[in-house]
Amino acid sequence: MTFNPLKEKGLPLEKQQRNWHQIVGKPYKKQKVDCYTRTRQILMNGIEVEAWGCKHQFNRFMAEIDDKDRANISRMGRIENQQQMTCNWMCPEDQSVLETTLGYEQVAVDLTAWLAQNEPDKYVKETFDFGLLEDFDHLYRYAQYAYMREGIEPNSIVQNQTDVILGRPTQHHHNCNGLRLRTHYDKNTTTPQTKVNILTVLSGEQQTHNFYAEHGFMYGDHVLRETYAEIKDVEEEHVTMYESLIDPAETMFEKLLLHEFTEVCNYYTCLEDEVDDEIKKYWELFLDIELGHLQIASELFKKYENRDPEEIIGSEIIIPCRFKSQKAYVQKVLEKEVDKRLAPEGKYYNSMKEIPNDWASYSVQQKAAEISAPSENCINVVEHYHDRDIVEASDNLKNKEVELLEKGLQKKASAHNTVFPDKLQKMIDTHEARKEEKEKII
Ligand SMILES: [Fe+2]
Ligand SMILES: [Fe+2]
Ligand SMILES: [Fe+2]
Ligand SMILES: [Fe+2]
Repeated sequence: MTFNPLKEKGLPLEKQQRNWHQIVGKPYKKQKVDCYTRTRQILMNGIEVEAWGCKHQFNRFMAEIDDKDRANISRMGRIENQQQMTCNWMCPEDQSVLETTLGYEQVAVDLTAWLAQNEPDKYVKETFDFGLLEDFDHLYRYAQYAYMREGIEPNSIVQNQTDVILGRPTQHHHNCNGLRLRTHYDKNTTTPQTKVNILTVLSGEQQTHNFYAEHGFMYGDHVLRETYAEIKDVEEEHVTMYESLIDPAETMFEKLLLHEFTEVCNYYTCLEDEVDDEIKKYWELFLDIELGHLQIASELFKKYENRDPEEIIGSEIIIPCRFKSQKAYVQKVLEKEVDKRLAPEGKYYNSMKEIPNDWASYSVQQKAAEISAPSENCINVVEHYHDRDIVEASDNLKNKEVELLEKGLQKKASAHNTVFPDKLQKMIDTHEARKEEKEKII
């Protein structure tokens, strides 16, 4: 039997208020938490931030709504805000910014890979695959610092579920924002699945951007501070890219409905998948709360637009965030598409070889890396201690690292401190030659 969210009443708005004890709750233990419980916690925080922002934008921009309805939107915004606190406050105090950062990039990799494989629109799928390889590289860059600065092995966070190895090099993610803009879907013909998929990944990317914006300066190491700045800027491009897939002609009532539906679908998936019994109780309550919000959004849609909400969201639940290991899929995309770039025109993608010399992103990249690329320095930093970069992947993938770099690295607009394939090969050889010697304690 399928679950039709529009047929569920959910928890009424007047019963959604909770006390501080309930809002704040207890954090998980970083040593014990399942990595996909952490990714759900990180993603749902992002979903709530977006849902909260949507209510404020609604009340700022919408004149044609009566006072009672406006008050209800505002009350819902307050509840989103409290749910956001519960989700974010699950994070424990002893989880460092870098550890949490590895969690954020694991969300981006495994979520985007899931969405790409469950996306009915080919163009949107291609965009997901494109973004995927960038966040995959961010995970690798941060893993170098996590190891050098805090002695963190990447698998203590990603728990062998996600590979850590270079992707499309971060220094090449900087583009002219005009090129990042994609062709939007048509709101009248696109499936609810595509709409929910995009809103889910967009919420995650936006929160990743915000997290780096609010935490990247908290380290004293200048190279690390600059790396956060560099990757934060790429997340801004990801927000630009994913939001541009949305039809800007959607009305505010339509958007409200889609936001509530996206929350319902995400909590529904979290509830199905959760392995932590304490956290599962929150997903259950929050699904109930969101079903209540969906009822309100549906009533508003019917009242102001005189249309059936089913036209927009259908009559079935959608599964947008099934977290599980995506190593095989990611490796396939990586080997095939590491050299992909944004086409100079037409909002498509080209392979690097097809990019002309006057490509608008070259000047952006050249200016950004005028002195050096912080994301390349992370390998130079880790080399001092470990002889080579920190990589966690199967031998099969590890053996292809230099080849992948060769394929993904641009000849033009690479920073002067770039780790080129010959240098990486030398680092790997040195590491192998000195491995036994380094492992001896005395
Ligand atoms: Fe919410
Ligand atoms: Fe990222
Ligand atoms: Fe991203
Ligand atoms: Fe909501």
